[in-house]
Parts: sequence; structure tokens; C-alpha cells
Amino acid sequence: MSKIEIIRGDITLLNIDAIVNAANRSLLGGGGVDGTIHRAAGSELLKACELLNGCSTGQAKITPGFRLPARYVIHTVGPVWRDGKHGESELLSSCYHQCLKLAVENNISTIAFPNISTGVYGFPKEQAVIIALETVQHFLGENPEIEQVLFCCFDKGNFDIYNTLLNSNIMIEKVISYEDILITADLAVKIWNEHYVPIIGQEQVNYMVSTFQSPGAIENQINNEHYEYYILYHQSEPSGYFAIKQSGDELFLSKLYVLKEKRGAGLGKEGFRFISRKAKESGLLRITLTVNINNINSIKAYEKLGFKNDGPVIADIGNGFVMDDFKMSFEF
Ligand code: APR
Repeated sequence: MSKIEIIRGDITLLNIDAIVNAANRSLLGGGGVDGTIHRAAGSELLKACELLNGCSTGQAKITPGFRLPARYVIHTVGPVWRDGKHGESELLSSCYHQCLKLAVENNISTIAFPNISTGVYGFPKEQAVIIALETVQHFLGENPEIEQVLFCCFDKGNFDIYNTLLNSNIMIEKVISYEDILITADLAVKIWNEHYVPIIGQEQVNYMVSTFQSPGAIENQINNEHYEYYILYHQSEPSGYFAIKQSGDELFLSKLYVLKEKRGAGLGKEGFRFISRKAKESGLLRITLTVNINNINSIKAYEKLGFKNDGPVIADIGNGFVMDDFKMSFEF
């Protein structure tokens, strides 16, 4: 499942498509990992970098790897940490995003990052790891072409932080393959039975799961009705899922479900953060959803996230079943 791996060692030894260099704006080499990469790649790397006319903070540029085992070096310039109030987080996230964007543009499918800005540039390691993981997971959710992202930690401090966070962390992966669809449908059967039978009864749950959440129905929604499904993994286990669909200037949150045993791990909140960021990045004005009027816990959870109740709506779901819902919306 996971395309993200944490390793300990010297990034210049990795025999993969691309390694990322934590450079400075001149791109003419320096200390730290920058110096090591230039030494290992040889003088041709410097010559190639001289033609690039430098690089702005938060941006990335690419060269061949020359004498490195890696085919390419993607040079990025991380922010120097000041006080966290000068856009440092956004610039660091941009480094990871721009490197991955360049990787996709150059058909690079395996890429290794050092812990950008956490050395000479003084970025607090824990904050940097959270930014790196969130940015990379978000990008992987949108770009399945990237097969593997390695976080190559030179020092134990970073290595331990990554592993702690990743193991307790939540991974969000877009449903792309039929195997993903089967995982989602399996989650739907479990979650709908444990969550909805007390609210709408077994017969209606059976009807709805077989009609709207079977593998075929999910596949049809993705391929023909422009739904996007995502699986929420907690400690690498499928633990929940959500489905979204853009309609006009709104993002319709069709479903956001978590296994009962996985409640309290922050999956719903993390899923909503992912959805909100996606809606904002698409310039949408609001997120809307419908929720059964008797689903008190979900209504309260959405209100806690900032949704307002826009009043009752009746949904005829066929086979004589009608859903008494509330429509709720979250305005940006
Ligand atoms: N492999 C992997 N990671 C490494 C290696 C290596 N061979 N050498 C150092 N690192 C790690 C450091 O332990 C740190 O966690 O790279 C991370 C980034 O540290 P720096 O290299 O100091 O980079 P950064 O903090 O982004 O500062 C960039 O330092 O080297 C100069 O020219 C560079 O001016 C720029 C500044």
C-alpha cells in the first residue's frame, strides 16, 4: 500500500530515478547534503547548475545525476527558518510540491528527499516532517504516476520523527485500481452495517449498500459520474473512506465514513482537512453534504467542523425508500 518509505543513510548512494538536493539560491554548491551531492556527482554537476541561473526559494530545477547512481538531481531551495511567521511552512511545502511536479514532468517515478531546511537552515524538524508528509501524501493522492517516495534521513533525529509520525499517521490514497474499489466496498459493508442499521434498519442498509456501494456501483460512480473516492489508512490499515464530487462552485461531500474501531484517531478530521484543501485549491466556494436527520452524532461532528444546517431535504433513493436528511454546508 504505502508508496512512502523512510530510510536512514546517505542520499548520494541511492540508485533511483532522482534524488533531491537541499541547495541554496545560487545552485553553485555549499555544505551539508548540497556539498555531498556535488562531490559525488562530480564537476559536471556544477557546470550544469551554472547554466540554470539560480533558483528561488520554494522552487526546483533539474539536472542529470552525472556520476551519481541516481539518473537525476532535483535541486530545491528550502526556506531559512526565522520565526515561522514569514511563510516558511508554505515555502517548504512548495519545495516538496515543485520537486514532485518536476518528477512527473520528467517521467521520474522513484524519488528520494533529504530533510530539506532542517540542517543549516534551521527549520524545526518535527514541523518540517509534518509539512513534508502532508504535501507528499496530498500530491501522491493526485498523481499515481509516482511509484515511490523515499525520505532519506541522515541523522537519527529525523529518522525517528518520521517513523513516529508515519506509524501514527493517516495516509489518504485515491481509489484508482479495482483492488482499491474492492477495499472501499468492503469498508462500506462494515461501516454501513455498524453505523446505519440502528438508524435506518437492516433492510434499507442492505438495499443501499448493494445499490450504491457495491464494487460495480463505486466503479460506475468514479468512471461515469465524476466521483472521486479516497481510502483513509490508519497505521497502514484501511480504516475509512470518503467520496467527493465537484458540482459548479461547490464540492459535494457524498460520504465520509470511519470504522467504529478506528474512531478517535483523527481520521475524519484529517479527511476533512484534505477535502477542504482540495476544494480551496480548486477555487470552490463551499462544501455541501446531506446527513440523515437521525444521525445525531454525524450532525454534531459536522457542526464541530464548521458546517451549518441548511434545513431538511427529502431524498427518494428508490425501492420505496426515502431518506429524511438535512442539507449542510461549509463556506470558505
Ligand atoms: N544524505 C541525506 N541527507 C543528508 C546528507 C546526506 N548525505 N547530508 C546531510 N543530510 C541532511 C542533514 O542531516 C539535514 O537533515 O540533509 C538535511 C538538510 O540539511 P542541509 O544539508 O544543511 O540543508 P538545509 O538545512 O536545507 O540548508 C541548505 O545548506 O548545504 C547548504 O548549500 C546549502 O546553503 C544551503 C543550505
